[in-house]
Amino acid sequence: MARVLVLHGPNLNLLGTREPEVYGTVTLAEIDRMLVERGKALGLEVDCFQSNHEGDLIDRLHAARGVYDAVVLNPGALTHYSYALRDAVAAVGIPTVEVHLSNIHAREPFRHRSVIAPVAVGQICGFGPLSYLLGLEAVAGLLRGGRGKE
Ligand code: DQA
Repeated sequence: MARVLVLHGPNLNLLGTREPEVYGTVTLAEIDRMLVERGKALGLEVDCFQSNHEGDLIDRLHAARGVYDAVVLNPGALTHYSYALRDAVAAVGIPTVEVHLSNIHAREPFRHRSVIAPVAVGQICGFGPLSYLLGLEAVAGLLRGGRGKE
């Protein structure tokens, strides 16, 4: 069975109570549960990990080599400035789908730029918790046979 690692970056542990007008009221534990369930339906084994520390996320990516077939990554604010996380995504070479709950392009200008996007297969944002599920669907499609243009 293919394995997918879901990585959540800083402050996402506070989902449910964090700026609910932006991020909604669904908790991270609920999102993780949905991902594991949907994974089962898609034939994917899903593991989820959250950290507020850039280095921990990078360590997880390094350890994912040879273990996971794809990554769904919500880097939180690291999206906008972490060259170290971007380099880790590029270095491990595991297909990575970037996801965001909010539509980062419709928010403050500093959120419009993602330094992760150029090394991700693609980006999904703006659908709340559904962004993660769509990210998982994208990964399932990739693992089934690419993007239809290779
Ligand atoms: C976020 C968007 C980021 O700009 C923000 O820093 C987050 C959450 C999202 O999921 O919408 O922490 O990644």
